[in-house]
Amino acid sequence: MAVKIIGTGSYVPENVADNQFLSTIVDTDDEWISQRTGIKERHLSSGSKEGTTFMAIQAAHAALEDAGISAEELDLIIVATASADTYVPSTACQVQGEIGAIRATCFDLNAACSGFLFSLNTVNAYLETGMAKTALVIGAETLSREVDWSDRSTCILFGDGAGAAVVKNVEGKGGIVASVSGSDGTQGDVLTCKGRGIQNPFYKSKRKKDYIQMNGQSVFRFAVTTVPKYIKQVLRRTGTEPDDVKFYVLHQANRRILELIAKRLKVDMDKIPMNLDRYGNTSSASIPILLDELNRNGLIEEGDKIVLSGFGGGLTWGATLIVW
Ligand code: ACO
Repeated sequence: MAVKIIGTGSYVPENVADNQFLSTIVDTDDEWISQRTGIKERHLSSGSKEGTTFMAIQAAHAALEDAGISAEELDLIIVATASADTYVPSTACQVQGEIGAIRATCFDLNAACSGFLFSLNTVNAYLETGMAKTALVIGAETLSREVDWSDRSTCILFGDGAGAAVVKNVEGKGGIVASVSGSDGTQGDVLTCKGRGIQNPFYKSKRKKDYIQMNGQSVFRFAVTTVPKYIKQVLRRTGTEPDDVKFYVLHQANRRILELIAKRLKVDMDKIPMNLDRYGNTSSASIPILLDELNRNGLIEEGDKIVLSGFGGGLTWGATLIVW
């Protein structure tokens, strides 16, 4: 048996904020943003009706249609998000209710920008042990609500969107072949977004909800050292040469990070597809949105080797080799 991705889908809001538009909000310009990040524009939610749950549902419908299965066949839904609309119910339960996946067990998972990868690994564990047969994994974020729109060092980086994949235990070879992942809580401070302060009969916090704060250079160093190391590990473990991989579908944070990863893996940039110029950093949604674009454009064929790799707040990271 093999645990395979059998369908993908994605959704981004219609509203587009390009770099020129951002330069009317904060002291920045297209040249600075393009050179340092590669980002040209990002899609932003139009309001509370187009939040994380809504986007997750749209991506879910598209992935189910691509897979050619009905929602009733799902027995597991995991939504990776660090920007849910509600603490309770989970985004996954709301998706379940809306699409009619009556048999599914549903929960959210927060591993920041590594969330989709960690969710895929969790789905793989459920499917390999027979706890589920067919699963939906979604990465969905409304980061525009977590960003301080007066902070030019962060607001230029992020965008909203959702991506999804249907994963099934099928006859045959391939699918999810190997995964490595890790976390380092001692470095959590380099990228934070704090929640509400404590308010109870004993304590009244003065702290309001916080925004994303980041030490950009520390995150940069972490990404360009950790990601190639773990990708090499997953390749070694499976006896795969870097050039045997058709695409490295990496978390879309920054073009310079991806270029350095390519250099360290000694692979051409044409193996590292990018859409961050159009969407910015959509955190846990970035890998499944990119995967969906590659799939829909007919660029992935059965038997192709693909490495997915995410990195982000926590700190968290992971790399997974799949054979399509
Ligand atoms: N426009 C113009 N100037 C700016 C902007 C902006 N939007 N933002 C910062 N600056 C200024 C700073 O104020 C600073 O000015 P100063 O020298 O007068 O003090 C100068 O530009 C340099 O700032 P740095 O923060 O040192 O710039 P750096 O070259 O490190 O680039 C960046 C910042 C793009 C964030 C970079 O560190 C980076 O890419 N880090 C990776 C982090 C990342 O991608 N995070 C995404 C989220 S985490 C994740 O997804 C894993």
